[in-house]
Amino acid sequence: MKPVELRKGIYWVGALDWNIRDFHGYSTPKGTSYNAYLIVDEKVTLFDTVKKPFKNELIESIRQIMDPKRIDYLVVNHVEMDHSGSVPEVIEEIQPEKVFCSPMGRKALLDHFNRPDWPFQVVESGQSIELGNRSVNFLETRMLHWPDSMMSYIPEDKLLFSSDGFGEHWATSQRFDDEVDGAELFQHAAKYYANILLLYSPLVQKLIAKVLELGIKIDMIAPDHGIIWRTDPGRIIEAYDRWSRQVSRRKALIVYDTMWQATDTMARAVGEGLKEGGLDFKLINMKFNHRSDAMTEVLDARAIVLGSPTLNNGMMPTMADLLCYMRGLKPSGKVGAAFGSYGWSGEAVKHMTQSLEDMNIRVAAEGVRVKYTPKAEDLEKCRELGRQVAREALAMEAEAKA
Ligand code: FEO
Repeated sequence: MKPVELRKGIYWVGALDWNIRDFHGYSTPKGTSYNAYLIVDEKVTLFDTVKKPFKNELIESIRQIMDPKRIDYLVVNHVEMDHSGSVPEVIEEIQPEKVFCSPMGRKALLDHFNRPDWPFQVVESGQSIELGNRSVNFLETRMLHWPDSMMSYIPEDKLLFSSDGFGEHWATSQRFDDEVDGAELFQHAAKYYANILLLYSPLVQKLIAKVLELGIKIDMIAPDHGIIWRTDPGRIIEAYDRWSRQVSRRKALIVYDTMWQATDTMARAVGEGLKEGGLDFKLINMKFNHRSDAMTEVLDARAIVLGSPTLNNGMMPTMADLLCYMRGLKPSGKVGAAFGSYGWSGEAVKHMTQSLEDMNIRVAAEGVRVKYTPKAEDLEKCRELGRQVAREALAMEAEAKA
């Protein structure tokens, strides 16, 4: 890709990865981008690099602006390999005068690459450097989402290089928010938040509070993945505020798998009860849905009802996969319940209910178990389960307002 100018003398020089379909367990049907940025000033500065196979694209993009050897400074905002995988080769090529990173960034770079000879300059929150006409203020964002993570703010342009924050996994030839479909953009941003950052929501809240406290003005957010927010960056900050407070709506998910359609039939009856109780619902059969898409739906759902037949004294593997993944991401402020069919032992409902409790999801009712196939009275129990979940969800909403 050709470089793209964000501001006079500031360029996107990243790479598009159109073909990646799995990002450590997160499905990326539309690929991703590895964004790096170049500021041309008295001290020419490169912010982040790209995943190792894309190093030549980065260098060739820079070459269209200037000889890469003219770069003075490299800022490593984040050490995960999608951004720093090509750091050794880039340093070899450009021979920077200094490599700026957080204290944890230096440790992580040494752990990964064992190059104590690199010209590290460790910077902490509140420190800044002069580039000439511009300066860079550093803001450590530990555990957003790695210990080394930091952001770089250019006050002269009110521009935030936000590392993994405010990004999306979405490869597009467009670079800016006003060039793409807004609804699709927010769908990708929500998926990214739900699958990468949800776990760290309390830290996102602290970061937003800190930015407000410091009175930092932001006209543009340039993340390390996806689209650059230049038209109204306040919209994505507001969305992060809402997502990190885990604000939910009257929406329930029935997440399930089925063996011989008995649990599927039960799921539809649970849905009828949810709807009668005042919640919209979605059926998500884990045979046909990726865990990361289910997790995206969890983001604003108030209720999660789990269904599985019993298989070998446990639940279906697809459900175990999802619950392991979901537990790590720590959704909060939700109600739930479980249901499922069985042949002789029937432990799946017990295990799924335990998973809900382990995630601090409020269990609205005792789970419904049905032997082999549901009869009319069983389906009524499923409908009542849906109604009970809806009642509890609405009660939770009332408590939150009180
Ligand atoms: Fe995009 Fe945490 O790396």
